[in-house]
Amino acid sequence: MEPVTLAFLGFGNVGQALARLLLAKSSELESRYGITWRATGIYTAHHGALIDAGGIDLQRVLADLAGGGQLSADPRRQAATDGLEFIARCHASVLFENSPVNYQTGEPAVSHLQAALEHGMHALTANKGPVVHAYDRLRRLAEARQLTFGFESTVMDGAPIFSLWREALPAADLQSFRGVLNSTTNLILSLMEAGQSLEQAVGEAQRIGVAETDPRGDLEGWDAAVKVAALVTVLMDFRCTPQDVERQGITGLTPEDIRQAARQDLRWKLICQAERSGDKVRARVAPEQIGRQDPLYTVMGTSSAITFNSDVLGPLTVAESDPGPETTAYGLLADMVNALV
Ligand SMILES: NC(=O)c1ccc[n+]([C@@H]2O[C@H](COP(=O)([O-])OP(=O)(O)OC[C@H]3O[C@@H](n4cnc5c(N)ncnc54)[C@H](OP(=O)(O)O)[C@@H]3O)[C@@H](O)[C@H]2O)c1
Repeated sequence: MEPVTLAFLGFGNVGQALARLLLAKSSELESRYGITWRATGIYTAHHGALIDAGGIDLQRVLADLAGGGQLSADPRRQAATDGLEFIARCHASVLFENSPVNYQTGEPAVSHLQAALEHGMHALTANKGPVVHAYDRLRRLAEARQLTFGFESTVMDGAPIFSLWREALPAADLQSFRGVLNSTTNLILSLMEAGQSLEQAVGEAQRIGVAETDPRGDLEGWDAAVKVAALVTVLMDFRCTPQDVERQGITGLTPEDIRQAARQDLRWKLICQAERSGDKVRARVAPEQIGRQDPLYTVMGTSSAITFNSDVLGPLTVAESDPGPETTAYGLLADMVNALV
């Protein structure tokens, strides 16, 4: 197999973790799958862009960025002024799109993934926006070009949620699911259980890099809603945007609510769920008090879990402990291997 050429659109926590994983797994990819690769493009919004058909030294780029530097300004390496120009010129056969999520429209990631497919690249992303706002369009385009639109990492990071249903559960119909899917709010609720106020818990989650500077997307349930919408769209074949999900965040919960629940041996969780009813699906995100008999009771900190109910199996639960950019990067690597072999 010719070396696969890789481009990274968005090179923050996830893009850089993926670069480290590709470097670490290079020999294994070659010995087990015959895959060799070289990076030909990296694009960021504020840290520069780099295109080199001959191959980019990822070790060096990672070291430069870790030292607070920009991507090389070497004039022989033509950069690009926007994402679409970058895609047109990056010489890649696989595009990894890892830019921030846009809950409202999925842009500009949708246009970037579409352009990548139109240029003959596999389009792989950890960004939930394109799945909920352009799933049909991108999937059909990929199928027509015999390419892959891959998004395994969008829900529960590297845990194989979408491929589980695609590969391991043929002819099963998903009737409902229920899970804890937002790491930030789960960590905040765990910290509140340990005695912190909402503000202290948010500060702590920000300090360790789990919550964003503006944590509203998590606290108000938008991140959870976009994950529910992605699962409903793909696994239940019912088009659902984050705006279609009934949504209540955790900002109304007080330390007294948490203490009162604990006195009854209960625990608050931000529960993500959806249920098929006739030809409709009802999807919602809301805090709930749950007891020890609930499989989600022991999901603490940044961990997450989901229980699926299908027409063929009893409840099937997938849980992941302490995910992060590294596990998200693995989902992207898995998408790449599945696209190529
Ligand atoms: N972090 C996780 O563990 C995790 C887990 C699951 C899914 N995800 C998803 O993965 C994606 C990336 O997350 P992250 O944590 O890596 O974010 P991040 O650290 O903020 O990195 C985002 C990257 O995208 C670039 N960027 C910003 N706006 C852009 C635009 N309009 N076009 C192209 N690139 C743009 C940024 O450039 P500058 O830095 O120069 O601004 C940066 O390189 C997000 O969609 C996120 O929801 C992340």
